[in-house]
Amino acid sequence: MRLKIIIGNWKMNKTGPEAMELARGLIGTVGKTDRPRVVLCPPFTALGDVAKLIKGSSIFLGAQNMYSKESGAYTGEIAPAMLLTIGVSYVILGHSERREYFSESDVIVNDKVKLAIKTGLIPIVCVGEKLEERDAGLSEEFIGRQIDGSLGDLTEEELKKVVIAYEPVWAIGTGRTATPEMAQEIHIFIRNRLGKRYGDIAAGTISILYGGSVNGGNAAGLLSQPDIDGALVGGASLKIDEFTKIVSSI
Ligand code: PGA
Repeated sequence: MRLKIIIGNWKMNKTGPEAMELARGLIGTVGKTDRPRVVLCPPFTALGDVAKLIKGSSIFLGAQNMYSKESGAYTGEIAPAMLLTIGVSYVILGHSERREYFSESDVIVNDKVKLAIKTGLIPIVCVGEKLEERDAGLSEEFIGRQIDGSLGDLTEEELKKVVIAYEPVWAIGTGRTATPEMAQEIHIFIRNRLGKRYGDIAAGTISILYGGSVNGGNAAGLLSQPDIDGALVGGASLKIDEFTKIVSSI
């Protein structure tokens, strides 16, 4: 049985007090839900405070990024152990916004994934094609390359600790979602690709989440697909009622 997970990616939104208010609201609505697992990913500046607030609830904490080194002279960066020690369990890696605006390559993502696992964080590894690739019929080729590059040299044991998020770039923040069938097709493609390399058991145990304009209205259709194990939610995770509806759609 694969773990079902709903993740709220707050991106660069919410000051400290605003983040506390949102977290408090969500504790009220989904703070006792353990199926699906609920993970909140506030910005770095709110992680410590939200960590204290969610103690005693069923909610897990995630970060939106981390650096690929354990410590040292890397001004402005955040090491995975710093996250772990304040109560962070998950970390989003290779989000398309990081790949696009901060030039993160598969090699960088792969380094981060390995260090996250070594440190004890669960990486949420994001992949997804742009509209050009989809229109050219190259979605699978492109996503296959991202999967191989981002997870490349992991052992089977390491792979089992990873969560994957398929987020078509053309669906992120655009209000345009993949249909449940389109998303399912890519999820099964990813699972088969991992199966070829790691065997069916490893591939079958990995949670693969969908992301891209998921909201309270479209979540149930997406989440009813056999290979969609949850959602990575951006915009709608900032609204208590929408996010709560998504969590209760599983
Ligand atoms: P969105 O973002 O739900 O606002 O499309 C999803 C994401 O980027 O993780």
